[in-house]
Parts: sequence; structure tokens; C-alpha cells
Amino acid sequence: MNFRAAGPFVLFRKEDGVTHWWQDATIYQIYPRSYQDTDEDGVGDLAGIRQRLPYLRDLGVDAVWLSPIFQSPMADFGYDVADYRAIDPLFGTMADFDALLADTHAAGLKLLLDFVPNHTSDQHAWFQESRSSRDNPKRDWYIWCDPAPDGGPPNNWMSNFGGSGWTFDDATGQYYYHAFLKEQPDLNWRNPQVRKAMADVLRFWLDKGVDGFRVDVIWHLAKDPQFRDNPPNPAWKPGQRDLDRYLQRYSADQPHIHDIIAELRDVIDSYPERLLIGEIYLPVDRLMAYYGEDGEGVHLPFNFQLINAPWRTEVIGPLIDEYEAALPEGGWPNWVLSNHDQPRIADRVSEEQARIAAMLLLTLRGTPTLYYGDEIGIAKAHIPADRIQDPWAKNEPEASFNRDRARTPMQWSAGPHGGFSTVEPWLPLTNDLATCNVDTEQDDPCSMLALHRELLGLRKREEELRQGAYTRMDSAAPVLAYRRGENLAVLLNLSAESAPLDLPDRFARGEVLLRASTGANGGPVPDQLPGNEGLVVRAADG
Ligand code: NOJ
Repeated sequence: MNFRAAGPFVLFRKEDGVTHWWQDATIYQIYPRSYQDTDEDGVGDLAGIRQRLPYLRDLGVDAVWLSPIFQSPMADFGYDVADYRAIDPLFGTMADFDALLADTHAAGLKLLLDFVPNHTSDQHAWFQESRSSRDNPKRDWYIWCDPAPDGGPPNNWMSNFGGSGWTFDDATGQYYYHAFLKEQPDLNWRNPQVRKAMADVLRFWLDKGVDGFRVDVIWHLAKDPQFRDNPPNPAWKPGQRDLDRYLQRYSADQPHIHDIIAELRDVIDSYPERLLIGEIYLPVDRLMAYYGEDGEGVHLPFNFQLINAPWRTEVIGPLIDEYEAALPEGGWPNWVLSNHDQPRIADRVSEEQARIAAMLLLTLRGTPTLYYGDEIGIAKAHIPADRIQDPWAKNEPEASFNRDRARTPMQWSAGPHGGFSTVEPWLPLTNDLATCNVDTEQDDPCSMLALHRELLGLRKREEELRQGAYTRMDSAAPVLAYRRGENLAVLLNLSAESAPLDLPDRFARGEVLLRASTGANGGPVPDQLPGNEGLVVRAADG
């Protein structure tokens, strides 16, 4: 079915007062290699995701974001795209994709794809042409520069995955730039043909009916046209990652990024109710610029503040307040706890605190993104040296986080290979498979899975949890307390020690809607909040 609309739709500009589906939604990220294998190769596929749609519907999420599924040599596991309009055979066929999209919609869920516009694979036909000669018409589609006078790289821009960001091409005697692997050459977004080609890619998928995109490293699309050296980072010490030797002043986040994004947004807005999310690792003040001056930026600049913050009330509380205060008028908040590039939440905090973190993620104001496997509490994965897959971990073993640890297969049962596959999976499962799996947790009302279902159900039922204002309440650390709307309060103990609760009378006399420790509801509000406990409370008169 073609969802293409006749005229332009202007969505969520500043003056726009309506609620869009994605403001009420919880997004669930799937790393397709690791969700469900159906063709017995140890790697997940689209048919597997399709098979698991009933699970996702019952869990209570609203939208599924798939990390890249496009044709790729997999140097960076799909973030190196060789054809933006083809499904990689590892994941299935276009028919599998169409069936997945149709079934996702039939299940009442939305489907978001991962758009990787900053770079292609070096195997992409565009790059093959570009590197073939200096006067090839696609030469300028990528970033080529002459060597420095000493023959070295044109400037000091580093690769995010270690070493220089420039690779010398013998055939044509110039360097090309790659912010990631040398197999991921950066496109030149100043070239109007590139922008047009990529807009066409978006339209291809939008015409199929996908509901939006998460845009990979969107802040990287605009680089300094003069290719000035980045300034040294005074805080860098030997042994730390190469990228951090320099402050990324010129290699990304240049002012014309906002024009590029506005163009992408125009494409998105020419279809009804589609969503544009930007992956952006920047400090809050710079992040906010990505909403656009008049709301013509991305709908959701991913908010990763919780990922790197020390898990302490004194840090988390102000961080939420500052983010809320910094939002531009009309800017809709969002929260992320984990993703495929970062240690999982249950790996960063204790098992008990991972439950508090789930309650935080799913009761804050704004669209939450839940990472697959976090809902069953997948925590510490051990990746033996001979099974490391992550190209970054291979390049910079000392300085980087091994991202494989966040990408291990979904654990569906305690059976062989966790029900993920009938053969040895591409990455190992965790050692606690016997208890940490969907089948086992399904029947346990106290499990992490049950807690997620309760939280997602509560969020669906309680409009104030989705739409109500966020107001911080007085509380002494380690208790983090906030109100949602007028009538709901969230009380989280971010420590293992019990702490006094000193609540306004209407909440002290209120009713517990959900307990993080057990997933149960009911009962009066205590005057001491036990360690590792979190409560959602409805006011007595609410
Ligand atoms: C960010 C993605 O999340 C990460 O997995 C990837 O390696 C880089 N971008 C490069 O595309």
C-alpha cells in the first residue's frame, strides 16, 4: 500500500498543538543480528522479528526501531551500507521486509528504520565510482583531499574507531575522509546530488509505509569546509581513545547541519505522521539546537544523558531538571537508557537498581527508547577474546568499550542457545541464561519482564504519565521524587539503603500504583522508602 500523501504535511512545528503518535509511544530498539534466528545461521533475521511481534505487542511497546538491515559487507555490522534500497541476504529478502512491515502494522505497532547517511560502505557503487578517477562525476560525492605538504593526512581529524580519519588512495593520490572505519567513507553533504540521492532513499522507504527513521550520527553530516585542524584536548591522556586527543570542533556539528536537517525534515513532512530521530552525542545546550529554531529540526534528538551519568540521585536529579529546562518551546523530550553502542543498564548498575532505572525511564516525561533485552535484565555478557566481533574493540582494545557486550542474542528460553537459534549464535549468551530469559520470567510476577509489562501498561492507562508535566518534588538523596501531572508521584531510591519519605499530605495518604521491587500494586504509601525500591503513587484526592 502506498501511504504517500498528496500535499505537504507540516507536523510539530512550534505552533502545532496536537499530540503525535510518537509523543505517546515507547520505542523498542532491535539489533536484528541478535533478536531471533530462523534460518539457522546463528544470526537473527527479519522472519525472526516477524515471529516475535506478538511478544512485542504483549510487552506493550508501540514502535520498533531496527538497526540497519540493508545490503552491507558488515565491516561495522550494517552501519556500512552498500545498497540503501536492498535488504542484506543475511536478514532476508525484500519480500520478508514487506511482510514484516505489514504484520507490524497489523499488530498496531510502528516500524522505524535506521538511516545511515554520513557514510556508505567502500563497496557502495557510488564510492567505487568516486575512487575510480579524480574526474569521475561522483568524485565530489565523497571527501577527497590532497596530502599535507609532508605527504601525511590533510589534517588531524581522527577516526572514531582509532587512528587517523584519513586513508590514502594509491590509485588517485588523494586521501578520503572516514569518521569511522576506512571501509566507511564519509559522503560529502555539501554536494546537492548527494542530498538529492539520499532524499530519494528516504522516499523509497516512506513510500513503502515505514513510520520514520533513526538517523545515524546526524551531527557528523556537516564538517568545516576549510578542514581546519581540531584543537588539542588538554584532558587527553595516553591510553585514552584516539578520537579524544582533539576536541571535535571542526569535524562535526557545523552550523550548516541545521539546513541539511531541515531538508530531510521536508521530505519526512511530505508524508503524514512520520518520525525523524537524530543520533546525537553532544552536550545539552548543543543538543537542543537540533530541534531547529522553529521546530524544523529532528522531532527527537536522542537524549543520552542517562547513559554516561554516575548513578546517584545528586547527579540524576539535576540532570533531568536541566534537560527539561533547556528544551525549546514545543520541543518534545525523550530518554534512552541503553543501546547497541553502550554498556547495558543492568551492566552499569546493580540488578536491583536496573529495576529502578526501568521505572525512571518509563515514568519520565517524553518518549522512552527501550533496548531489546533490557526488559529481561540481560546484564553482564562475557565475550572470550577469540569471539570478539566489534571492529572498534579490535582496533582499540584498551581504550574502547567492547560493544559486543551490548549485542548478545535475545534470550527467549532456558533451552539450547536460549531459543535464539538452533546453532551456536554469532555472540555468546549470558551465563545466567537459566533464569534470565523470556519463558522463565513470563510466569513470574516479580520478574524484570513482568515489571516492564506493568510499567508499560501503567503508562498506557495513565495519561498523566504520558502527557503530564514533570515537576521535581522536595526529597533528600538518595530519594529522587517527582510528580507527573497533578496526581501521580514517582519515588525512587537510587541506593540500597532505606531512606525517609517526607511527602505532601495528599501523596502520603495516596495509593501505590506500582512497586519496582516486586511489580505489585496496592497498599498505603510507607514513610520509609526501602533500599532499591521505587513507587508510583496516586494522590489520595487524585
Ligand atoms: C553510530 C552507530 O550507532 C554505531 O553502531 C556505528 O558504529 C557508528 N554510528 C557508525 O555508523
